Amino acid sequence: MKIITIDGPGGAGKSTVAKKLALILGYLYLDTGAMYRAVALYVLLKGKSCKDEKAVTSLLCEIDIMHENNKIYLNGKDVESEIRDPEISEAASAVSTFYEVRKKMVELQRRVFHGKGLVCEGRDMGSVVFPDACYKFYLTASIEERAKRRLRDLEKMRVTASISETIQKLDKRDRQDSERAISPLVVPEGALVIDTTWMNVQEVTEKILSCVDH
Ligand code: DC
Repeated sequence: MKIITIDGPGGAGKSTVAKKLALILGYLYLDTGAMYRAVALYVLLKGKSCKDEKAVTSLLCEIDIMHENNKIYLNGKDVESEIRDPEISEAASAVSTFYEVRKKMVELQRRVFHGKGLVCEGRDMGSVVFPDACYKFYLTASIEERAKRRLRDLEKMRVTASISETIQKLDKRDRQDSERAISPLVVPEGALVIDTTWMNVQEVTEKILSCVDH
């Protein structure tokens, strides 16, 4: 399977590196976090709570998600910027704990792979969605470094937040993503763990490329 999976906690640099790798290798890129974010956005737009499993599950049949050209479409509308709102990060983590949500997302994610190369990133890519992937990576970094990176992203969106608040939110999400019953965030079997705390994007990309036949 010409698939490279990249898993890891928020702020570890997965998206930037995965996009770069896909470009270099001419592979498709799949941001699965964006899909959970799109579900959360829809639920919030409908005025429901993302913690209400019954409400979230009942809305699933109204949700169509497409990931194309590095953008995410919710029922045909490009929602790439809306889903990056910090409120959506927590909401996405909440909906991602539900069985029916994961079932639908995993089906959609597997359909993206058409035999052409794929770089996909998320929390359960190497462990659950594509356990037979050729290459599996797990990116991590210290929580302080991840918070700094998140703050830089937020600044670009003109959102102000403090470092301590950002650390707290990342920590809460890490715990929720790692402790949930279904497909928790784990280091997949056979994955190479890369601690990116002291590495820049170029270094991480080169490290991964050095492990991949291309
Ligand atoms: O990678 P991200 O921050 O965009 O992901 C948002 C949330 O979606 C994350 O907190 C947990 C969930 N998620 C998941 O459960 N499984 C994935 N494969 C990707 C994301």
